[in-house]
Amino acid sequence: MKAAIFSDQGGPEVLRYEDVETPSVGDGEVLLRVFAAALNRLDLKAREGRPEVAPYPHIGGLDVAGEIVDVGPGVERSRVGDRVVVYPVISCGSCDLCLAGDQALCDEQRVFGFQTQGGFAEYVAAPAANVVTVPASSDMRAFAALPCAYLTAWRMVVTVAKLQADEVILIHSVGSGVGSAALQISRYLGARAVVTAGTDEKLGAAIDMGAERALNYHREDVTQAALAATDGRGVDVVVDTVGADTLETSLRSAAKNARLVTCGVTSGAVTELNIRYLYQRQISVRGCVMGGKSELGSIVALAAQGVLRPIVADVMPLRDIRAAHEALESRTRFGKVVLSVAE
Ligand SMILES: NC(=O)c1ccc[n+]([C@@H]2O[C@H](COP(=O)([O-])OP(=O)(O)OC[C@H]3O[C@@H](n4cnc5c(N)ncnc54)[C@H](OP(=O)(O)O)[C@@H]3O)[C@@H](O)[C@H]2O)c1
Ligand SMILES: [Zn+2]
Repeated sequence: MKAAIFSDQGGPEVLRYEDVETPSVGDGEVLLRVFAAALNRLDLKAREGRPEVAPYPHIGGLDVAGEIVDVGPGVERSRVGDRVVVYPVISCGSCDLCLAGDQALCDEQRVFGFQTQGGFAEYVAAPAANVVTVPASSDMRAFAALPCAYLTAWRMVVTVAKLQADEVILIHSVGSGVGSAALQISRYLGARAVVTAGTDEKLGAAIDMGAERALNYHREDVTQAALAATDGRGVDVVVDTVGADTLETSLRSAAKNARLVTCGVTSGAVTELNIRYLYQRQISVRGCVMGGKSELGSIVALAAQGVLRPIVADVMPLRDIRAAHEALESRTRFGKVVLSVAE
């Protein structure tokens, strides 16, 4: 089969589109014919040098939509012909954390496509426990864009921050996969969104999606705008995927009793923190790492109804894997870069 692989970590030039052996299914696994696979920031970090990547040569791709073409021994519920997306967290399935829906905190947790072979290939084997069925008529490119970004955004906005209708949320770098999903979920909940991005094109896309205020952080004062949008009160919830560059703005923009939720550090992990911001306004700070399989089930159901519509910025053929990585790296895209593998 054809696959996008790398044997050494580095820039986009390490990516190769080559023939590799088609995987076979093991116990409890299904074999998917991949229709589409979406890129995530983690795919860039894996290629650049994250030490957890395995095995080599490595096939990336956490986010996969495909059709089951073979089932291994012990697989009961999945059937050949089912169309599915993959829940990207592999875990023991039986510890207290797994049973509580915190599979990403399991001691045996591994990320599909990062610590296993992933979906940037014509076929991929996945644990049957990790597939979520989608309607046969689904747009598989759109569904490929769902798992990682929507799961993380859902965990942040719905499960952890418990954003309410009419509350105000601040979303940094709204054009990111997680940011655009967070905006769509916030609007679905009936909340008001103040968002930021680095280009005016992204601001326009965010306004079209229902953002109330969209700010170019290169030239506008985000905190001032967040306070103006809330009569000086500050925002109720902040989604911060950017980290070092935005933490202070997040805290200064937050209302009393606000919830600040972080899942990433795109701009860096280490920064100074003025602790007074936290206690004087009693701000809660929570971290999120993906979400549970049942949360992905809720997301898929809403997408099947057309309530959630994955934002696909670009669809490229699998052979253009380097260009796809460069597109995500360019900071110009609003939403997800998707690789089309089969029709
Ligand atoms: N914890 C989890 O489970 C989890 C899950 C998914 C993602 N994440 C993390 O969440 C973050 C967003 O992921 P994603 O896949 O949604 O990202 P993405 O689609 O690749 O978007 C990243 C965006 O971040 C903005 N940005 C701000 N500062 C940047 C900098 N210094 N360098 C590069 N880009 C910068 C850029 O938009 P502007 O130029 O418009 O600001 C860029 O387009 C990443 O840090 C990722 O690792 C964590
Ligand atoms: Zn477990």
